[in-house]
Amino acid sequence: MAKHYCFGLFSFALLVMSLMVLEAEVAWGQGGDTETRREMVPAMFIFGDSLIDNGNNNNLPSFAKANYPPYGIDFNGGPTGRFSNGYTMVDEIAELLGLPLIPAYSQASGDQVLHGVNYASAAAGILDITGRNFVSRIPFGQQIQNFQSTLDQITENLGADDVARDIARCIFFVGMGSNDYLNNYLMPNYATKNQYNAQQFADLLAQQYTQQLTRLYNLGARKFVIAGVGRMGCIPSILAQSPNGSCSEDVNRLVLPFNENVKTMINNLNTNLPGSKFIYIDTVRMFEDLVTNASAYGFSVANVDAVYVFWDAFHPTAAVNILIGRKAFSGDLSQVYPMNIQQLATL
Ligand SMILES: *[C@@H]1O[C@H](CO)[C@@H](O)[C@H](O)[C@H]1NC(C)=O
Ligand SMILES: *[C@@H]1O[C@H](CO)[C@@H](O)[C@H](O)[C@H]1NC(C)=O
Repeated sequence: MAKHYCFGLFSFALLVMSLMVLEAEVAWGQGGDTETRREMVPAMFIFGDSLIDNGNNNNLPSFAKANYPPYGIDFNGGPTGRFSNGYTMVDEIAELLGLPLIPAYSQASGDQVLHGVNYASAAAGILDITGRNFVSRIPFGQQIQNFQSTLDQITENLGADDVARDIARCIFFVGMGSNDYLNNYLMPNYATKNQYNAQQFADLLAQQYTQQLTRLYNLGARKFVIAGVGRMGCIPSILAQSPNGSCSEDVNRLVLPFNENVKTMINNLNTNLPGSKFIYIDTVRMFEDLVTNASAYGFSVANVDAVYVFWDAFHPTAAVNILIGRKAFSGDLSQVYPMNIQQLATL
């Protein structure tokens, strides 16, 4: 049962996984290529859930962990806590930015934090209460608190003026919201769906999200990358509940207002927070593109049974993560808006 629930954690990568079988033609990201590395930004700070967690849950009393095989089978050094066979999306983005892989908050100390820190935690959401079926997880609010600790640590070493200037040039990557649906609203043991309709819940999340991102802004963050949630009605855990194996349009409709709200929020924050630049990664659009143009990306499409993929085919995830990371980095306006990460980095 726990394994089944784990499905809910990956919102997007699994969605793609469920429809594709990798024909290993996509080049894996190559870490540690220091000769050609040129840092475009001083650091990247990462906030999110299992899509980008890289080990923060390893030592928590949590059911949401990925620090054992077959996770990490294609990762240099094996399982790390990444919910992937290899890279996550932010690993690829770090590489494209010329940064080393960004360490997990739970494992980073001293100079290791200078290129950034990853605070993401599997099962975490925008709301503190999200993900409690997994017992421990680090909600977005606490992730921000942890960033504040890192900031205090860096400031002690480098001095406040330097840090403030550098922080404004760093990338802040935030991907939250999937678990507020999968491990809150859609969970039978939560009262949420009796309290809010789809629009009201999306409004609640956007309101909370706005406050949390503003907190990061007040701590000096200026360059934000916000990832939308995927088509959750098509992920394996939802497909498994469907009598005919079709996507749940009810679930897809449920999360629609969240992405709409996030886009509006980004426009508002760009206007209301002087000197800030927020960009939006449209994961739903990227997914459509990947599925429609699968062969052009080196995938062969196979509409295989989702549960089979869950047990047997973890390996597509890293390839998909890498593709999505590349699109977020250098994609066009239809997929990343109003500019891509490369442009954001060079502002
Ligand atoms: C699958 O079932 C859902 C409702 O249970 C229905 O709306 C949908 O049309 C069905 N899809 C197919 C392909 O039969
Ligand atoms: C597929 O690729 C073509 C060519 O790049 C692009 O114009 C089209 O929008 C893509 N399809 C989707 C659904 O994104």
